[in-house]
Amino acid sequence: MLDLSVNPFREGLTESRVADPCAFVIFGATGDLTHRKLIPALFSLYLESLLPSNFAIVGFARRDWSDERFRDEMWQGIQAHARRLAGEREAWEGFARSLFYNRSTFQDPEGYDRLKTKLSELDKSHDTHGNRLFYLATPPSDYEPIIEQIGAHNLQSEERGWARIIVEKPIGTDLASSRELNSAIRSVFPESRIYRIDHFLGKETVQNILVFRFANSIFEPIWNQKYVDHVQITNAENIGLEGRGAFFDKAGIVRDLAQNHQLQLLTLMAMEPPSSLRADAIRDEKLKVLQAVRLLTREEVDEHAVRGQYTAGLVQGQPALGYLEEPNVQPDSATETYAAVRLFVDNWRWAGVPFYLRVGKRLPKKSTEISLQFKEIPNILFGATQKDAVRPDLLVIRIQPDEGIFLRFTSKEPGPSMRLQQVRMGFQYGASFGTPSPEAYERLLLDAASGEQALFARDDEVEAQWRIVMPVLDRWRELGRQGLHEYQAGTWGPLEAFSLLTRDGRRWRRI
Ligand SMILES: NC(=O)c1ccc[n+]([C@@H]2O[C@H](COP(=O)([O-])OP(=O)(O)OC[C@H]3O[C@@H](n4cnc5c(N)ncnc54)[C@H](OP(=O)(O)O)[C@@H]3O)[C@@H](O)[C@H]2O)c1
Repeated sequence: MLDLSVNPFREGLTESRVADPCAFVIFGATGDLTHRKLIPALFSLYLESLLPSNFAIVGFARRDWSDERFRDEMWQGIQAHARRLAGEREAWEGFARSLFYNRSTFQDPEGYDRLKTKLSELDKSHDTHGNRLFYLATPPSDYEPIIEQIGAHNLQSEERGWARIIVEKPIGTDLASSRELNSAIRSVFPESRIYRIDHFLGKETVQNILVFRFANSIFEPIWNQKYVDHVQITNAENIGLEGRGAFFDKAGIVRDLAQNHQLQLLTLMAMEPPSSLRADAIRDEKLKVLQAVRLLTREEVDEHAVRGQYTAGLVQGQPALGYLEEPNVQPDSATETYAAVRLFVDNWRWAGVPFYLRVGKRLPKKSTEISLQFKEIPNILFGATQKDAVRPDLLVIRIQPDEGIFLRFTSKEPGPSMRLQQVRMGFQYGASFGTPSPEAYERLLLDAASGEQALFARDDEVEAQWRIVMPVLDRWRELGRQGLHEYQAGTWGPLEAFSLLTRDGRRWRRI
């Protein structure tokens, strides 16, 4: 039996856990991720006393900034993006004293010499114990040169303290490049010190999937092919490219969101109970799910997957450009902004249960949710008149926004006749806990700084994820724009995506 007296992701974890003393080194410190997410998350940890007093942050980037300029820019980032702010200027002064900037290109060895000297000084001035956490907040093309320089300067050495590395998604752009990148990282850091971020795993609602499934007794017995008709995983965005045209046009939505976030959600929904709550016990079970996903053949891709690209339309009342009119997009681009796929997990628990995944940009609203539709009841009792009122039970896990879980089931309407209706029983994070959930990056930075890997993807998981999407990406590349369906911005995707389910006698849940 799982020992629920401990935090689900770390044995012996207590609420008063604090990160180890350490120096965070952020490569790409003048970039968007650092400004919007990393520094605000570190500052929130600091405010909640989850960072120790002996920490330091060294930003590493090319721009000609001083320590002072770096601090000023980061303060602006915090004002715009931090979760907690009111009256925190004084705390900021304390936090900012631990912020430093190292100007260098990623390729220049001298920049790493200076970094090494700075880290040694910080061990003395800030008592960082020789512990280093390197964060690659850079374009993926820079990962290899940085890792090479870290190795060449022996910055990964654990002579005096620990050294860990966090890498951002995407890990490669296909299976071959992800293998190459993983092996480049492993040539300097062993797997036990590599933290691959999929920030979805840092979300409270995502972590709660395991708790919901394995800390309650009533769901697990029906969590299988005997009772579940199918599963839907939706990642809907209402936004378009938001200045990311050059990156997105090369990547597409499958690489950007499906290969990582959606497949991670699938593993958490489908995995077997782990034998313990240690990182590798959980990751072993997730890997088994990915390995059980039936790989599509080239021919099957056309039948099991649909892709789309948005044209101009209205999203929440506002006019939106078509994809091909967006800045930095090729005029004849075949990049998909919408994808839907039907997958099967060929194991004992899920045999024959389709997992329908859909992901898209410029859809009517932002929403990430997972729904589990249970099987229909035998239509005996409620006969012809009420037949349509009896719908299969549905369990919905809302990841964002309006985080929560609800169960839709059939109930009798009050009154003398036997009239049936769908009703909901629900739980909402906001109402139940009254405090806003921490940002995913807060949790993930805290975990990395305390050596907890459960919420980070292991190399074999990432490669298994690529293995699943490669046939789809290969087939679509081969077809170019042929078979790429248009949908108007502000709608729920191309009609063909609806046919994917109606052919099976099912339909997408209306969100
Ligand atoms: N932004 C997000 O919300 C987000 C979310 C999820 C994942 N990610 C991932 O996080 C990573 C970083 O994204 P980002 O949006 O922060 O990128 P970004 O805004 O383009 O920032 C890139 C950073 O890298 C630095 N840089 C680039 N080339 C350099 C070189 N040769 N030498 C030294 N510094 C160099 C830039 O420094 P200068 O500007 O000083 O030249 C800048 O600090 C990417 O892998 C992205 O996919 C980002």
